[in-house]
Amino acid sequence: MKRSFLLVLLCAWSVAACSSEVEAPAGNSPYPLHLSDWGLFEGTGATQIPAEGVVPYQVASTLFADFSSKHRFIRLPEGGRIGYDNEAVWDFPVGTVLVKTFSYLHDLRDPSLGEDIVETRLIIREEAGWNAITYLWNAEETEASRVAIGASVHVEWTDMAGALRTLEYRVPTNAQCRTCHGGSGAVTPLALRTRQMDRLNNYGSGDINQIDHMATLGMFDVAPPAESDRPNLVGPFGAGDLDARVRSYFDANCAHCHHDGGAASASGLWLNWEQQGPQHQGVCKRPPAAGPGTCDLDFDIVPGDPEHSIMICRVASEVPDIKMPELPTQLHDPAGLALLTEWIAAMPADNCE
Ligand code: HEC
Ligand code: HEC
Repeated sequence: MKRSFLLVLLCAWSVAACSSEVEAPAGNSPYPLHLSDWGLFEGTGATQIPAEGVVPYQVASTLFADFSSKHRFIRLPEGGRIGYDNEAVWDFPVGTVLVKTFSYLHDLRDPSLGEDIVETRLIIREEAGWNAITYLWNAEETEASRVAIGASVHVEWTDMAGALRTLEYRVPTNAQCRTCHGGSGAVTPLALRTRQMDRLNNYGSGDINQIDHMATLGMFDVAPPAESDRPNLVGPFGAGDLDARVRSYFDANCAHCHHDGGAASASGLWLNWEQQGPQHQGVCKRPPAAGPGTCDLDFDIVPGDPEHSIMICRVASEVPDIKMPELPTQLHDPAGLALLTEWIAAMPADNCE
């Protein structure tokens, strides 16, 4: 266990909540203080082996989050079925629990060397809509406790170049969950939709398509269309078409804020998958406001000229008021930066005048 136990609650974010580590149960919908009470995992949960009825999944294009790794699961209520949709986020029955655990591999070059688990986030379907909560693991990895006001956890890992890295990892506050998951008010799941789920996964007997596997388990209300009729994102760092890889990267890393109605709606920079072509992707687009967020440059994207593109400056930045995506993540994504730089450099040059 490499993670040293140093937990600093960020009292400044919520003075009222500072006296206790965990949130008092909110409203008439109290959730257990301990993750083990949900019965999601075998044993303590330290190995993230799901309990019976908890189905693991992966997404086609992942959200970069300060070099953490993720474990994702779905638990439907007894007899519950998912309302399938080819485009929109799927419709889940009341009682569904969506689970995402954040961990740090000891060595990014070799996952078999183990990991430290940090937090397990839940999105829970209630009668009135979805709720988002998170549980912070203790250093011994025997239990996780609910935190609503965020936390800072010291983490360590060895990076792809073999260097030891450290970070005061930020657990988001419940309010921060909503910035990304609740662009239009209510909390909503983000990746539980066909284009993110239509990919291969190994459930123990070789790679099979996740949606086909879920259909076999009887998880959908209708039979999904054949694989060839399902939309899908591509792996941003694979070998496919550059434009499709960039749109897939945007969809997972930017679109939850940058869409019509999202937290960054007013910027006019809309980066959801449906946006094709330059109009909303920022080509020769001036930002609506002056300030540090412009990096003293004029346009979000100057075709052929990544160095003079605000998008590249902001994606490369680790300065809180400038960096994109916004907090709670703190580090820039080197692979994403390289992808967007390549994409802008490959555009036919245009000085936007
Ligand atoms: C910076 C934006 C951001 C913040 C903040 C954030 N999430 Fe998410 N979350 C995402 C994105 C994007 C996905 C889907 C992509 C993925 O799984 O990698 C996701 C996926 C999830 C999932 C899996 C189901 C789904 O929606 O696809 C859960 C559960 C979850 N988040 C819970 C939370 C909770 C609880 C919080 C607050 C403690 C939180 N998230 C904060 C962006 C965010
Ligand atoms: C958690 C929400 C959030 C996420 C995720 C996010 N952004 Fe932003 N972004 C904003 C907000 C809010 C603004 C407007 C205020 C500002 O400029 O800081 C903005 C502004 C920008 C701007 C300036 C654009 C303009 O015309 O004003 C660029 C460029 C940008 N974002 C790029 C990105 C990219 C690329 C990603 C994904 C890699 C991303 N952002 C992810 C919230 C977000």
